Amino acid sequence: MFLRTLSLAGEKIRGLIQRHPDFYPMYTRQGKWKHQGEAWTHWCDGFLPGMMWILHQRTPFGSEENRWWREQAIRYSKPLEPRKLDRNVHDLGFIFISTYYRWHQLTQDPTLKAVLVEAGKTMALRFKEKGAYLRSFVSDDSLFIDIMMNVGIIFYAARETGDARLMDVAMRHTLTSRRVLVRGDGSTAHEGLFDLKTGEFLRQSTHQGYRGDSCWSRGLAWALYGFGTCYHYTRDPRFLQTAQACADFFILHTPADGVAPWDYDAPEESRKQVDTSASAIAASGLLRLARLTPDPVKGAYYEAVARHVLTSLCAKYAAFDDPEWEGILKGGVYHIHKGLGVNESVMWGEHFFVEALDTALGPVGQ
Ligand code: GLY
Repeated sequence: MFLRTLSLAGEKIRGLIQRHPDFYPMYTRQGKWKHQGEAWTHWCDGFLPGMMWILHQRTPFGSEENRWWREQAIRYSKPLEPRKLDRNVHDLGFIFISTYYRWHQLTQDPTLKAVLVEAGKTMALRFKEKGAYLRSFVSDDSLFIDIMMNVGIIFYAARETGDARLMDVAMRHTLTSRRVLVRGDGSTAHEGLFDLKTGEFLRQSTHQGYRGDSCWSRGLAWALYGFGTCYHYTRDPRFLQTAQACADFFILHTPADGVAPWDYDAPEESRKQVDTSASAIAASGLLRLARLTPDPVKGAYYEAVARHVLTSLCAKYAAFDDPEWEGILKGGVYHIHKGLGVNESVMWGEHFFVEALDTALGPVGQ
């Protein structure tokens, strides 16, 4: 099932490249990638080439298909390089870990590492000393849970350069996010707001969730995955504990098929709208957490849950019998309040679905 879905992904991405070459879409409208819909923020360009790198590694080494995916991956990754200096978004981890990190893993080319380090340094410039957090793209007083997926590039840059200041920024941001965005039951808030004069944390809020005190499912999935990444870089047990708390909330509150509602606290009728992208991110995060968790029983449990979630996504939401649908995974949500990408394919959902399928399948050749 996982292999069949990965080959569906390959077909859909090939179709996208042929139909709209060099286009980096964000979400579909009625299943079509190209439309005039608003973007809100410019954060997704790494996800399409990220999948190309995965597909490159999945195909037999030296085959024509293998070379073709590599050419496409390079072609779509290279134009992103100037974004290493982009100070307008908090998403440089999304953009570069999905692309240049994978590219560097394959080649060990130091010029690729230099791009990653530069992107990490740029991310660190978002740090607000008062409050101790990396500011979101919306304003200086705003911290987003999504940034937990991007602070990893600062940990990476700190490790590769030995720069203690970068390590300090990444640690303090992660601890602040843990303190103000993750609740005692493992649920998460989307946004935290601070007093800029004093650095005092004021309240939880949201943009894409139901409300400030609710648990927006994609935010929860970003936290589950992101705190796991921070544990990977630091081995700080507080980050493992937080990733596990978020994982346990996901497992306890998601319906039995493993497909999350768009927000766990939205009214019942509204909760019928799932966000498959949240479940795809959670599945990939759970597979990583399974490998990071020292307790083998707990690790096996996370692995089993992740496989169950993926099986449901493949069976119920992969666009197998819909050749007109240009995406891979149906049922994603971008921004419900703005009416953007609701019940559609979304590029991050595609990316983390493909990443999770790839991880679940294990190393090529096994
Ligand atoms: N802004 C990132 C997200 O939609 O999850």
